[in-house]
Amino acid sequence: MPSVSKNPKVVFLGAGKLGSLLIQSWLKDKVFKASELHIHVKTKKSAQKLKKLFHKSKITSAEEKASLPQAPLYVIAVKPSQWNEIKEELQQKSPTKAFFISIMAGIKPSQLENDLKKPVVVAMTNTCLQVKGALTTLFQSPSTTSSQLQRAKKLFTRFGTAYVLPEELFAKATAWGGSHPAFIIWIIQSLSQIISEELKIKNSTDWILQIFEGAVKLLKEKKDPENLLKQIATPGGCTEEGLKALSELKIQDSLRKVFEKCSNKAEQMGKN
Ligand SMILES: NC(=O)c1ccc[n+]([C@@H]2O[C@H](COP(=O)([O-])OP(=O)(O)OC[C@H]3O[C@@H](n4cnc5c(N)ncnc54)[C@H](OP(=O)(O)O)[C@@H]3O)[C@@H](O)[C@H]2O)c1
Repeated sequence: MPSVSKNPKVVFLGAGKLGSLLIQSWLKDKVFKASELHIHVKTKKSAQKLKKLFHKSKITSAEEKASLPQAPLYVIAVKPSQWNEIKEELQQKSPTKAFFISIMAGIKPSQLENDLKKPVVVAMTNTCLQVKGALTTLFQSPSTTSSQLQRAKKLFTRFGTAYVLPEELFAKATAWGGSHPAFIIWIIQSLSQIISEELKIKNSTDWILQIFEGAVKLLKEKKDPENLLKQIATPGGCTEEGLKALSELKIQDSLRKVFEKCSNKAEQMGKN
């Protein structure tokens, strides 16, 4: 039998890919004790899997007709499309003084506060949190207090950097926060493929990663991209030729289009 407390300090609603990562990291960092945690998911099958992973926590599922547990803090980690299924019960069963942190992409804090009638901070984080390299943007609903916001910020700075932004930037920040690791990985993968074809080397990803690592270190230390570009690109040299091609091919415009498509989708997801 798990040694769970009767009154959990935190309830996780949903513990899929990102939810499980958060739980594992916070337990590892001793932010909560496993016995203070209650995880509530949809299916019996997922609940059984999670019981093996988090055997000291209480785990229930909607499929087994378990009602929503009560706690001072809820972390909402279901998909945005699943929000409508749970919002009413959550609004009714959560304690009056409960505070909510949502990691759902696309649903703004003011909308969540409207649904729950309680304060909500939305944390747009990303999968880099598993290596403590996440960039998290936080958005507060109107009735969130500064201590609740600080609490959320503290929880997410454990995984990297956290910034508080106004709600009108929500869709754009969702696109940059949640999705940007995928775009960077895609770029690294594409460059690795080119290197592998051109130089016939097997460890082309390591090669590209070293170039990224070096460039990031240099930028972090010198903090002046304009000057660094001038230093590297000798007039009339090959770097200058490559930079000219980047400009002629309008790569920045293409990247902007990728960003716009992604943030438009984030905006739409919130409306569905
Ligand atoms: N993955 C990422 O890198 C990433 C990045 C940024 C933001 N996000 C956001 O994080 C959230 C979770 O994403 P994910 O990738 O972790 O999703 P996921 O793997 O599909 O997990 C969804 C979780 O919600 C549970 N759930 C569904 N309906 C429920 C209900 N009615 N009651 C209780 N639990 C329910 C599911 O339980 P069952 O397994 O039993 O169905 C599952 O545990 C999303 O809102 C997404 O927008 C994710």
